[in-house]
Amino acid sequence: MYIKAAEEKDIAPGGMKAVALSGREIVLCNYGGTFYAVERACGHAKARLERGALTGWILTCPLHFAQFDVRSGSALSGPAPKAPESAHPDPADPALATKDLKTWPVKTENGSIFVDLQ
Ligand code: FES
Repeated sequence: MYIKAAEEKDIAPGGMKAVALSGREIVLCNYGGTFYAVERACGHAKARLERGALTGWILTCPLHFAQFDVRSGSALSGPAPKAPESAHPDPADPALATKDLKTWPVKTENGSIFVDLQ
């Protein structure tokens, strides 16, 4: 069932917006005028992804720079080896392996963005 999440005009191309829908924390991403919905918590150590950077369809986490494909939620890379040592958890720790992001179907209608929480 699709639920209204935001207005298209609120998210410029290349922009992101965090929303809460039925208890789920989601980031809406505008890649070239198409909207995608991914979970807000980074698949590495749960940083808030809307504080990262969206470059094309690649979302980069602000904390240790793991990257994700917003179209599929796939983790493209784990924490960057050159992230500041003090802020970088042990990448060998299996509990901190970078997981893919959950995604949800999105549609737009009359200037509004809807997410199917299924
Ligand atoms: S929390 Fe996102 S890369 Fe570590």
